[in-house]
Amino acid sequence: MRIIPFISAPLFLALSLSPIDAQAFNAQKTLKKQGCLKCHAISRKKDGPSIKEIAKKYRSEENGTAKLREHLTLSPDIEVDGKSEKHKKFKSKSDTDMDAVIEWILSK
Ligand code: HEC
Repeated sequence: MRIIPFISAPLFLALSLSPIDAQAFNAQKTLKKQGCLKCHAISRKKDGPSIKEIAKKYRSEENGTAKLREHLTLSPDIEVDGKSEKHKKFKSKSDTDMDAVIEWILSK
């Protein structure tokens, strides 16, 4: 049965790559559904900083992941059009959702 390694290696690759793609897709869809993309675009500034800008800032910070999580769960005060308001909370059904979104943001 010497064929198996040749078959299983590409199969393993295919299987292990697909969840990452699915996750990226879902994170973006979820953010859109929750209205985040009204204020955040991937690469251009809207009312909020772009996702790329956020990624750049937090990727280089030691506790970036924890800080992002805090921002998304504690709704800090932000300023939109000169007015102070509470930042929208990310409604996650599970920690996995939250992790996926944070990972997606940091990957941009
Ligand atoms: C009403 C507009 C608006 C909506 C809706 C909104 N944001 Fe924001 N967001 C902002 C603004 C403005 C800032 C900048 C806050 C600051 O720098 O003080 C920000 C900052 C952030 C940051 C970076 C925080 C930092 O410290 O740099 C993240 C991450 C973020 N938003 C994610 C989200 C997610 C996820 C959602 C959806 C659940 C969302 N935002 C919805 C306006 C918005």
